Amino acid sequence: MIIAPSLLAADYGQFAKETLRAAKSGAEWLHLDIMDGHFVPNISFGPHVVKTIRPLTKMFFDVHLMCSKPEILLEPFAQGGADQIIVHVELGERVAQLFWKIRSLGKKVGLCLNPPTSIALVQPYLDQIDHLLIMTVNPGFGGQEFIYEMLPKIQQAAAWRAERNLSFTIGVDGGVNFKTAGECAQAGADVFVSGTTLFAAHSLKAAVAKMRKIVHAHDPALADLKA
Ligand code: DX5
Ligand code: ZN
Repeated sequence: MIIAPSLLAADYGQFAKETLRAAKSGAEWLHLDIMDGHFVPNISFGPHVVKTIRPLTKMFFDVHLMCSKPEILLEPFAQGGADQIIVHVELGERVAQLFWKIRSLGKKVGLCLNPPTSIALVQPYLDQIDHLLIMTVNPGFGGQEFIYEMLPKIQQAAAWRAERNLSFTIGVDGGVNFKTAGECAQAGADVFVSGTTLFAAHSLKAAVAKMRKIVHAHDPALADLKA
């Protein structure tokens, strides 16, 4: 299980301080939402911010590109200190070339799916990825309501992973709180991206521990053992 606080929900006046808060929280990944004002109707931050915070922590930097032209951003984010770069399946045929480029930069490869997109579109890529990220809100803004219709897609992805004996991780992103994290865990997710719920907490460390406990309690593998 991996907990990934999203810096999108941090105090933008204090990126360094907020990164340190995440680093000391016990979370494994820091999720970095990159928005270009075109693929999604919002703009967040760029590679320079990532480069600036990189020396502050050894956390795994999970860069989620919500961008129409990721090909021009792969190198800057790789050099800025990304450990994994996630691109969207909605980019169509360009995905294969993007994967090749991310691998050639020595980074892990992630693929993301928006809520209206059919889960069938990710199927051909499953043996090429390290991580599958399932959006549980329409991307662009933090603090939105979790879309419950995404739970069957998480189940489907987990079923394909088991059937094909693959080992990519399955993440959920958007509206992940102390309730929905458990429901996603039950459906088969193992990476929990959460912005508002974690960063708004007085103690980020306590919030990460609480989410971890809830996810653990809903782990389907443990349910199998109990049965
Ligand atoms: C949504 C982003 C998410 C966002 C999640 O466009 O991709 O990572 O930060 O934020 P919350 O947890 O506030 O929904
Ligand atoms: Zn994200």
